[in-house]
Amino acid sequence: MIRLSDLYREHGRRLTPGDMDLQAGITGWRSPSNIALVKYWGKVGEQMPINPSVSFSLSESYTETTVEFGVTDDPRIVFSFGGSLSESFGSRVEAYIGRVSEYLPFLGALSLRIDSSNSFPHSAGIASSASAMSALAMCLCSIERNLFGTLQDDTAFKRKASFLARLGSGSASRSLFPGFAVWGHHPGVPGSSDEVAQPLPFRGLRLRDTILITDSGEKPVSSSAGHRLMERHPYREARIAQAFDHTLKLTGAIRDRDMHTLVRVVEQEALTLHGLMMSSDPGYGLLNDRTWAIIREVRRFREQSGIPVCFTLDAGPNVHLVYPDDHQAETAEWIDERLLQHCEEGRRIDDGMGRGPEEIRKTGPQ
Ligand code: PMV
Repeated sequence: MIRLSDLYREHGRRLTPGDMDLQAGITGWRSPSNIALVKYWGKVGEQMPINPSVSFSLSESYTETTVEFGVTDDPRIVFSFGGSLSESFGSRVEAYIGRVSEYLPFLGALSLRIDSSNSFPHSAGIASSASAMSALAMCLCSIERNLFGTLQDDTAFKRKASFLARLGSGSASRSLFPGFAVWGHHPGVPGSSDEVAQPLPFRGLRLRDTILITDSGEKPVSSSAGHRLMERHPYREARIAQAFDHTLKLTGAIRDRDMHTLVRVVEQEALTLHGLMMSSDPGYGLLNDRTWAIIREVRRFREQSGIPVCFTLDAGPNVHLVYPDDHQAETAEWIDERLLQHCEEGRRIDDGMGRGPEEIRKTGPQ
């Protein structure tokens, strides 16, 4: 089988500065974060996952990135966050641009002025790397399209953007699509790949995600460190088998709108993720008393009301409440009454399934 990385590397070699249609321009994309229902945890090789994962894109939590680009003899990258120059983010972006240059060698002939901002606060339990890296990858694909007239087809465009986003942050590969996405090869999911994510073709189920902030502080252990600890994790093989099984069960549940199965799989995934952290060597725990109090409340409410609300967790202590759109009213009441008391200063973010990235700036007629 031909690997996409070989294909894109080969294609990149043919994108030479001499062939550029244009010398300068601007592009901008708004791209959402996503919440994983089956978790990506552990990687191999060039940012490939050890297991498949499933997520949905959010609507309110996004990054907006604009890139002004121009051909120059003295290429530079200037990065600002919300209008202010940011050296720390800047060096991460610069390293990323260096990393993707083998697929987009023309970047070496361009100066880039990148500005980025998030719709959500820092450390709010929302993966900002997913939205930031997917927005930037979309901008890079737009630059290629602008300069060479390639990637006109939307599917080809998104596929390459997903591939490039993955190299910045694995979970970012899943942010490129409306609704649900799968990343990672699974024999039961046609077309699935370790190199790119793809949308799930089921549109019926609409979910909400209310994010309950229990602690907005900096995480003591990064996701990168957590992924690394999976390399020699004692439960690695069992985890991989479980994630394959969960991916099949969850995609079936989404297709059939089987909330009973969805709730079971999603909560098992959340607790497994944190169980893996605790059983790593060295082990660590990121959950706090408030997280556990909310988990207990969720289970009690579900049992009493019959409403299929479940919790999931990212690599942090904030709780994502996942539930169907059509139970929003009753759920909102319960959140106000029972859950906000466990949140840091009563903070929560109301989000839900979104439509994927949107182009916000482009060169030429708008
Ligand atoms: O994409 P990364 O390297 O930030 O890892 C994300 C890991 C989780 O958010 C915990 C799970 C996931 O699949 O998004």
